Amino acid sequence: MSAPLISVSASPDPSAIVSAAPSHPLIDLTRITRIYNAETAPLRALDDISFSIDAGTFVSIVGKSGSGKSTLLNLIAGMDKPTSGEITVAGKVVSEMTSEQLSLYRRSAVGMIFQSFNLITSMTAAENVALPLFFSGTPEQERNARAIEMLETVGLAARAKHRPTELSGGEQQRVAIARALVTNPAFILADEPTGNLDTKTSDDITDLLSHINRHERKTIVMITHDVPLALRLSTRIITLQDGKIKTVDSH
Ligand SMILES: Nc1ncnc2c1ncn2[C@@H]1O[C@H](COP(=O)(O)OP(=O)(O)OP(=O)(O)O)[C@@H](O)[C@H]1O
Ligand SMILES: [Mg+2]
Repeated sequence: MSAPLISVSASPDPSAIVSAAPSHPLIDLTRITRIYNAETAPLRALDDISFSIDAGTFVSIVGKSGSGKSTLLNLIAGMDKPTSGEITVAGKVVSEMTSEQLSLYRRSAVGMIFQSFNLITSMTAAENVALPLFFSGTPEQERNARAIEMLETVGLAARAKHRPTELSGGEQQRVAIARALVTNPAFILADEPTGNLDTKTSDDITDLLSHINRHERKTIVMITHDVPLALRLSTRIITLQDGKIKTVDSH
């Protein structure tokens, strides 16, 4: 498919929480360790990891199952806190935010895409896409207009009134991408976004992500098991092994 032209800059700038510091890398992790079950049976899922991500780049995170990829993404997403170390996004220290600040950060700065799409089955495609704007207090008319605009962006305006069960896997992932973009987040975090899709549909979805990265300069951090895909799409590949960075390849 040819990816549609994308415009995600029409909304007011809810990503202001992270937009103020152009001199910093967009995302900076310093000596991040995450130990699960620290009290009972400690498991060191991430072990003293440091790296940074510049705005506009496409970074892939690869590594075997259990190597800590999702743990890392959840920390950047503000859904979890490190046991030690510091995460900053555009100079703001995410790892020290209060739960209210974290909730604003997640709502405004982060767009997330999951392997299992995570759409709400009782809602139409348009309602799913509009939902993040409801939580940020956007008026209904604007929410609806913006949801349709985002569905057009991902080539799915004709399915706006369909529910997830009436959509193919690839179409559901497009809805999820539209939902991730609707708040004009500072970056997109994708955890195995093509993991449930066949090869052809995976290619369509990755073409769309690549288009979003190149034409909108939207920063993307994507976990994948597919190394050739990571090589094709990303500017940098970070390989994790047992909670540590094994290699960082830039190209
Ligand atoms: N909530 C949790 N509580 C305890 N241990 C956890 C938790 N989440 C993950 N783990 C453990 O931490 C390690 C890293 O898990 P993580 O989910 O980050 O791996 P992953 O690289 O994303 O794997 P996969 O490719 O299978 O998704 C694993 O050993 C896992 O069992
Ligand atoms: Mg995972």
